Amino acid sequence: MSDKNEIVLVLDFGGQYNQLIARRVRECSVYCEVHPGTMDIAKIKAMAPKGIILTGGPQSVYGDGAMLCSPELMNLGIPVLGICYGSQLMAHVLGGEVKPAPKSEYGRTNVHIDEPSSKLFHDVNSDTICWMSHTDYISKLPQGFIKTASSADCPNAAMEDESRNLYAVQFHPEVMHTEEGRKMLQAFVYDVCGCSGDWKMDSFVEKTVRSLRTKIGHGKALCALSGGVDSSVAAVLMSKAIGRQLTCVFVDHGLLRKNEGDEVAAVFGPDGPYDVNFVRIDARERFLKKLEGVTDPEQKRKIIGGEFIHVFEDAAKKIGHVDYLVQGTIYPDVIESGLGNSAKIKSHHNVGGLPDHVDFKEIVEPLRMLFKDEVRSVGRELGIPGYLVDRQPFPGPGLGIRIIGDVTEEKVRIVQEADAIYREEVEKAGAQKDLGQYFAALTNMRSVGVMGDGRTYDYAIVLRAVKTSDFMTAESAQLPWDVLQTVTSRIVNEVKGVNRVLYDCTGKPPATIEFE
Ligand code: XMP
Repeated sequence: MSDKNEIVLVLDFGGQYNQLIARRVRECSVYCEVHPGTMDIAKIKAMAPKGIILTGGPQSVYGDGAMLCSPELMNLGIPVLGICYGSQLMAHVLGGEVKPAPKSEYGRTNVHIDEPSSKLFHDVNSDTICWMSHTDYISKLPQGFIKTASSADCPNAAMEDESRNLYAVQFHPEVMHTEEGRKMLQAFVYDVCGCSGDWKMDSFVEKTVRSLRTKIGHGKALCALSGGVDSSVAAVLMSKAIGRQLTCVFVDHGLLRKNEGDEVAAVFGPDGPYDVNFVRIDARERFLKKLEGVTDPEQKRKIIGGEFIHVFEDAAKKIGHVDYLVQGTIYPDVIESGLGNSAKIKSHHNVGGLPDHVDFKEIVEPLRMLFKDEVRSVGRELGIPGYLVDRQPFPGPGLGIRIIGDVTEEKVRIVQEADAIYREEVEKAGAQKDLGQYFAALTNMRSVGVMGDGRTYDYAIVLRAVKTSDFMTAESAQLPWDVLQTVTSRIVNEVKGVNRVLYDCTGKPPATIEFE
């Protein structure tokens, strides 16, 4: 079996959906990478992709400083699909004409398939809803091309030159609103590019384990395990490859969710199913001390991140000479940090970024080409329990940024208990399925209440639940009222120090998902 997968190349011209195109292609079981639109032709040839997709972009092909490509790209004998700006680019560099459309199209648009025998559309309805977003259009086709689809305001909504395997669509097949978009992308990668669909997570595990073994040989590796999805999957993959040559360091900073430390230890510790060295460092006191009296959110983040590095460095030194540092970097981090810039460690990704001056030979990132949903599939493939693989994101600074104002041991206990009740009830009701993130936070507000016959002056817990796919924007989710009532009643009865429960109805923007 070859260790190299068939690859489709996505050339990025600045479109907002570039990652989505790559994900859709991967969903067709075809491996795919995103590279800058300016990628060198020699490099493209060396990669020998089965197909190339040109993404959308914000520019006009005839505008000043427009990002163009060489016409040679269309003559490599490799199938090309141009999407939106990519379609206009194809027309432009091959001698067609692109100009401002008399009427821009935006949103759901009926597209008529003029050539039902087109390889791209053979399985698509003759009239199909597609997502449009353009102000320019192709007004004249390049030589050799035929029009294959049209809409009311876009006479050339799709074009192709079958003899050269060149295809272009003005709409966005990668977004959900293009109802038959998946079929079109599937047709491109299979019927036009001739891919066989060799991108499967079981073979990913096998191939990666093999290559990690070759790379690391008898060396030692260290993994900072947070208990989050990415670092857990990276750790198990590494352990499968190198067993006891791997040490996982789990720093318990005391700002974790209820029972989280024990859950991580149960999976990775000596009684767990994996053959790894596991070091659990109880640094709770150390962190609480550093945070004493600190109220500014950014300062809290800095303290937690900085302290984490110190604890981790101490552990690394104790373990002795380690050659490799394992990171759970995933593909969106790679793309967002500048396409292929592997050395960058995002502060959001790990707790404040890991030390770069500890003496490691190399950083190993076994998941750096995977999207989150693929990381989860690898996790399932590796038999990691569902509660670790499917868990929602949890910020590195943990409950430190879910306690508004200063952090104390008592406040940590309150928010841990309230959050555990909230998650338990939401899951019991099956209400978590559509949620991007949901948690309890502790406001710094105390108010008057009455319990039994006595007055109370206690804290207010706030519940947050948001729907989001990218975490850049989010809407507040409408949880069933009876679930909220049950949670409220349990929190005020079971969590000492709380007499009021609030629900956050704010979206992002103007709020953020976390409270600090
Ligand atoms: P915000 O609050 O910015 O959160 O809307 C967006 C996403 O980022 C997570 N988040 C963090 N993750 N360190 C992290 O590792 C941080 O300092 C941090 N702040 C926010 C948050 O949980 C959400 O998923």
